[in-house]
Amino acid sequence: MEKSSPLPLLCAIFLLLHVSNSQAAPSKDSIHNTFLHCLQSHTNPSQVSNIVYAQTNASYTSILRAFLRNARFITPSTPKPLLIVTPLHEFQVQATVLCAKNIGVQLKIRSGGHDFEGISYVSQVPFIILDMFNFQNVTVDIKNEIAVVQAGASLGQLYYRIWEKSKVHGFPAGVCPTVGVGGHISGGGYGNMLRKYGLSVDNVLDAKIIDVKGRILDRKTMGEDLFWAIRGGGGASFGVILSYTIKLVPVPEKVTVFQVDKTLDQNATDLVVQWQRVAPHTDDRLFMRLVLQPVNSMVVKGQRTVKASVEALFLGGANELVTLLEKEFPLLGLKIETCNEIRWIDSVLWWADLNDGSSLNVLLDRNHYSAHSNKRKSDYVQTPISKNALTWIWKRMIELGKVGLVFNPYGGKMNMVSSDATPFPHRAGNLYKIQYTVTWQGEAAEKNFLSQIRMLHSYMTPFVSKNPRGAYLNYRDLDIGINSPGKDNYGDGNVYGVKYFNKNFERLVKVKTEVDPDNFFWNEQSIPTLARKP
Ligand SMILES: Cc1cc2nc3c(=O)[nH]c(=O)nc-3n(C[C@H](O)[C@H](O)[C@H](O)COP(=O)(O)OP(=O)(O)OC[C@H]3O[C@@H](n4cnc5c(N)ncnc54)[C@H](O)[C@@H]3O)c2cc1C
Ligand SMILES: *[C@@H]1O[C@H](CO)[C@@H](O)[C@H](O)[C@H]1NC(C)=O
Ligand SMILES: *[C@@H]1O[C@H](CO)[C@@H](O)[C@H](O)[C@H]1NC(C)=O
Ligand SMILES: *[C@@H]1O[C@H](CO)[C@@H](O)[C@H](O)[C@H]1NC(C)=O
Repeated sequence: MEKSSPLPLLCAIFLLLHVSNSQAAPSKDSIHNTFLHCLQSHTNPSQVSNIVYAQTNASYTSILRAFLRNARFITPSTPKPLLIVTPLHEFQVQATVLCAKNIGVQLKIRSGGHDFEGISYVSQVPFIILDMFNFQNVTVDIKNEIAVVQAGASLGQLYYRIWEKSKVHGFPAGVCPTVGVGGHISGGGYGNMLRKYGLSVDNVLDAKIIDVKGRILDRKTMGEDLFWAIRGGGGASFGVILSYTIKLVPVPEKVTVFQVDKTLDQNATDLVVQWQRVAPHTDDRLFMRLVLQPVNSMVVKGQRTVKASVEALFLGGANELVTLLEKEFPLLGLKIETCNEIRWIDSVLWWADLNDGSSLNVLLDRNHYSAHSNKRKSDYVQTPISKNALTWIWKRMIELGKVGLVFNPYGGKMNMVSSDATPFPHRAGNLYKIQYTVTWQGEAAEKNFLSQIRMLHSYMTPFVSKNPRGAYLNYRDLDIGINSPGKDNYGDGNVYGVKYFNKNFERLVKVKTEVDPDNFFWNEQSIPTLARKP
């Protein structure tokens, strides 16, 4: 079965982008020169001449765009970096950190560039991008079932390199192959094996990071507090992640995927009611994502309806799955013909809508994704939403017009990991996570769509977690609060901090204050520092 009309543009989307080439002002030149001199003094001059792109450089724009995944942040008025630094070696990353600190210019760290608010490549203060895309090595050791993956590798590269070595190993991480390891894993990381194996960070064994002093640290030398923090607290608050050492997980030789769609006239509401009872509690080898979108009705011309699509991965065979769901989820009406029994690596392509005969090499291609404008928000649901409330929500979605919802079921392994084992706090007690999604083209539409998604988020208030209302760091959302540069930003940081991290926020602040007391690694939603007594 073809996976028909997926959630639009989750992964494979295209748009030609335009960036204006700003003129280099003298001050930019002087920062360029000072920075270059500094780099040269920390290294060997010949070793840095080919890794610094000034705004006047002919390749500046293409380097900036190469890992820019949200067209909302590529307009002429979007602030651009003074320089882009693209290290090839660890010592160049060390020098970049030290020199940015010396000059007092902000450093934005970019790996895959998928941040939904573009904070890896945009800033309101003068900044330099440290672009980690040259750090793409993935070293897989099947005998010990581990891999070392550098921050600039994509998830597609990671999956491909594992597959090269073993057909029965995988790794639980996101479904979009172009997502970068640096942001994804340091922010938590989840995908369609979440119920069986938990988050990416639940499967991290070691890490390599460069701290504010320019030191290269591993788990042993950084200590357990910092190692804890960079498994879900976001890397960018603490330093530059060079690599993670991860534990591979077993996958069967054949897995099963399916997609079933129902609209409101096909009793989609009852389906969603039953989904809420089944998806977070069923066999943990089964991940059934539910995608809800306003669409045109096929029954009554000119009318709008809501389509509910169940998209699933089962780490097992189709017969077993159909038997299981006939019993647990009869309203789905799953037929054996609807199921696809495929290799795990092919399920990666299926989820990314790349199962059009593409060869596996597409997983190594960083460029098949370019950006539409988008906005995402998130929520956690802890008690099932009633049928009446769902009906009310569908009406609001149809009125608003474009915003979709994605329900990602939790349970399974997520219930077994304690809420303070990593900074990611949303464990037992959460039935599913909601992702709000809207994607569009062109600047003119932006205001309308941003307003739609904020309204739907506001309508959902009664049905989602409260005090704090939870959110997922990797679904970066600047609406829930931002801080400002400087040392004493605890108050602002606390606003979004407890939403992303709940009770773990305080420990993150402690670690941050310890390892980066001057708050060099600042961004709009970084972990704040506590002011120290003079
Ligand atoms: C199309 C798409 C699909 C997605 N699918 C999923 C999904 O299935 N599951 C999921 O959990 N999330 C998903 N996400 C969200 C994704 O996990 C986050 O956006 C993640 O932070 C992206 O990492 P990146 O390296 O690509 O992004 P970047 O924009 O490069 O970085 C994101 C953040 O991490 C910081 N950072 C990046 N690299 C480093 C580093 N080396 N050291 C320190 N800090 C660093 C950046 O400064 C920034 O703050 C998706 C996003 C998109 C756009
Ligand atoms: C642009 O920058 C790159 C990287 O530093 C360098 O190798 C190249 O020579 C520069 N090009 C020009 C025209 O200055
Ligand atoms: C990646 O591996 C190759 C081969 O071992 C090595 O030459 C290169 O320096 C590595 N790259 C980085 C960024 O570590
Ligand atoms: C929807 O549910 C009603 C009442 O249970 C039932 O009579 C009807 O056949 C269902 N429609 C579809 C398309 O399944």
